Amino acid sequence: MQNTPYYQQAFVDYLNKFVQVKEPKSLYSPINYILQLGGKRLRPVLTLMTAEIFNCPYENALNAALSVEVFHNFSLVHDDIMDDAPLRRGQETVHEKWDVNTGILSGDAMLIMAYQLFENYDSDTFQALAKLFSKTALQVCEGQQYDVDFETRDDVSVPEYLKMIEYKTAVLVGAAMEMGAIVAQASEADKHNMYQFGKNLGIAFQLQDDYLDAFGNPETFGKQVGGDIIENKKTYLYLKALEFSNDDDKQQLLHLYSLQPADQTNKIETIKEIFDTSGASLATKQIIEEYTNKAFQILEKLEISDEKKSLLKAFGQQLMNRNN
Ligand code: IPE
Ligand code: IPE
Ligand code: MG
Ligand code: MG
Ligand code: MG
Repeated sequence: MQNTPYYQQAFVDYLNKFVQVKEPKSLYSPINYILQLGGKRLRPVLTLMTAEIFNCPYENALNAALSVEVFHNFSLVHDDIMDDAPLRRGQETVHEKWDVNTGILSGDAMLIMAYQLFENYDSDTFQALAKLFSKTALQVCEGQQYDVDFETRDDVSVPEYLKMIEYKTAVLVGAAMEMGAIVAQASEADKHNMYQFGKNLGIAFQLQDDYLDAFGNPETFGKQVGGDIIENKKTYLYLKALEFSNDDDKQQLLHLYSLQPADQTNKIETIKEIFDTSGASLATKQIIEEYTNKAFQILEKLEISDEKKSLLKAFGQQLMNRNN
C-alpha cells in the first residue's frame, strides 16, 4: 500500500494520457478543461486504494477509477448549470466559459466515455462494473432531482434531506470503493462493507460540503461562498436552524428563503448569523462526525490489516477537516 498523494499522482498521470485534443474542439475542449481543472480526486483515489487493500495492483483499477472521475466531472458540469454556479475549483464553470448548450452536450459525452472505459475489462468484470454504475448513476439523477424539488418546498424533513444527499453524493463514493473491490475480485461481504463504508463517508462529505458552502473561506473554497443560500437549498444547516430558532428568526428564515433579492449579500450574512446563533452550525459539525464514525465502525467488519484500516481512517479524518 502507498499513501494518498502517491495514488493521486498515479491517477492524474493516467488522466493526462487519456485527455486528447479531438475534433470538434467545441465538444472536447470543455471536457479537457473540466477534467484538468484539478479537484481533490478523492473518488478515484478510493478506487485505487480499495483495489490494493484486496491485494490487486492499483494499475488494474485505473480505468475504473477514471470512469468514476469522468462521471463525477460530468455530474459537476450539469450540476453547475442547474445551480447557476459561476465558479468551480477557483475557475469559471463550463457553462460560463462557453455556454449552457456546450455544457449539456460535453456533459453527455462524458457520461458515455465513463461507460466506455469499462470495455477495458473482461466480460465478468465489465458486467459487474456496468451494473453497479448504472444503478448508481440513476440514483445520482434521483438525488439531483430531489435537491432541485426541495428548493421550492418549505416542508422538507431531515430524513428527506439525508436521503437526498445519500443519492446525489454518497452512493458514488460507495460505488467508487466497490469498483476497486470488484476489480480485485474481493468477496461479496468485502464488496458490501466497502460500499457501506464509502456511502457513510460520502454522507459526511456532503454535509461538510454544505457547511463549507456557507462558512468556507472564499480564498480556498473554489466555489461561490453562499451559493446554496442564494439558491434556497434546504441543507442540514437550514433545517436545523428552522428547528432550533425562536419564532422571529424562524419567520425571517422562511421569508428570506422565499425571495430572490437583487442584492444577495445581506441575505447571506443574515442567514449565516442565524445558522450560528441557533446552534445549527454546531449540530452540523456533530452530524458530520457521527457519519464519519459510522463509517469507521463498518471498517471493523473488514478482515484487513490494522495498517490498512488506519490508512482509510486517516483518509476519512482528512475529509472532515478539509477546507475545499
Ligand atoms: C463536489 O465534489 C460535489 C459534491 C458531491 C459535493 P468534490 O468536492 O469531490 O469536487 P472536486 O472534484 O474535489 O472538485
Ligand atoms: C452536487 O451537490 C452533487 C452532484 C454533483 C451530483 P452540490 O451542488 O452541493 O455540489 P457543489 O457544491 O456544486 O460542488
Ligand atoms: Mg452545485
Ligand atoms: Mg447541486
Ligand atoms: Mg455544495
